[in-house]
Amino acid sequence: MISNINQIGILTGGGDCPGLNAVIRAIAKTAIMGYGLEVIGFIDGFKGLVENRYIQLDLRKVSGISHTGGTVLGTSNRDNPFKYFTVSEGNVQHSDESDRAISNMHHLGLDGLIVIGGDGSLNIANQFQEKGVNVVGVPKTIDNDLSGTDVTFGFNTAVNTASEALDRLHTTAESHHRVMVLEVMGRYTGWIALHAGISGGADVILIPEIPYKIDEIIKKISERYRQGKNFSIIVVAEGALPEHGEIVIRNLVSTSHDPIRLGGIGNKVAEDIGERLKNIEIRVTVLGHLQRGGSPIPYDRILSTRYGVAAVEAFMDGKFGTMVSLQGREITTVPINDAIKDIRKVEPDSALVKAARSVGVNFGD
Ligand code: F6P
Repeated sequence: MISNINQIGILTGGGDCPGLNAVIRAIAKTAIMGYGLEVIGFIDGFKGLVENRYIQLDLRKVSGISHTGGTVLGTSNRDNPFKYFTVSEGNVQHSDESDRAISNMHHLGLDGLIVIGGDGSLNIANQFQEKGVNVVGVPKTIDNDLSGTDVTFGFNTAVNTASEALDRLHTTAESHHRVMVLEVMGRYTGWIALHAGISGGADVILIPEIPYKIDEIIKKISERYRQGKNFSIIVVAEGALPEHGEIVIRNLVSTSHDPIRLGGIGNKVAEDIGERLKNIEIRVTVLGHLQRGGSPIPYDRILSTRYGVAAVEAFMDGKFGTMVSLQGREITTVPINDAIKDIRKVEPDSALVKAARSVGVNFGD
């Protein structure tokens, strides 16, 4: 254990995610009660670090928050200190404000930073590490697309929400003999679609890792009708795409360091089916940010707590430049570099995809 650590900073970066508050609570409680440290929480992610906006986290401030959604510190998925945007007379300008952020940390007397974030925020954290800041990361994202860990916190809550939505869509699909399409998040990976689809009994699951052919989907729906099953449930990941086709982009956020926002593939799938099966009614639901909001399920409260405790322990052990990670049943640490190298994707030949196929799920291939 390193003995001259007195004060750490923490921030939540990127899109919010169920379980953030449980991590904040676990970090603050472990740091204060276990090691006698002071804890500073920066407001609105890296924006607060650049603008020197923060609060002192004491035990009272983090009490009773582990079951709550969102983040008590606020977050932002647009503010990168290394490419910091400002808007002047309607024009977006970028500048490197990382030295300003480091000088803020020095003035506060911080011994380092715990960054709770996905690949974007951990990339920024890694750049600070390379500039000499002591950094430890905590893997956050509903998308579950970070390498170096089996699971990110927040993912299972998002799956729970999507699975519940499928249960509700099932009953109305059956009543009206309709095809129901549910578009879920996940960026360039199909983790949420795959898990929610299996859990919610979807007939078709479309994920970016397995480009689909519309003919195969039509075949599956038609076969179900022949069997007397006059409704179908289709789960589409926002990053899914047809074979030889393109991913559907909803909009570009010019101020964001990762400007592409996906969305719209659910409607495309519905239109393409509708053109071919004119006598069948189709409806589309885009689940959107409901997947990010609300209380974390118990699994995520526990995982977040374990991650928060482990992050402080890693910091005190001087394991800088690492991210806490779940491997099997154990929490360990991996270099942040390994976690951000590649997006972790669903393996098309994985046991879970095979299990889904065994129970009749069609992947449109
Ligand atoms: O990474 C989390 C996530 O919710 C993705 O699943 C989604 O594509 C994106 O963020 C949405 O971003 P925003 O909140 O900027 O619309």
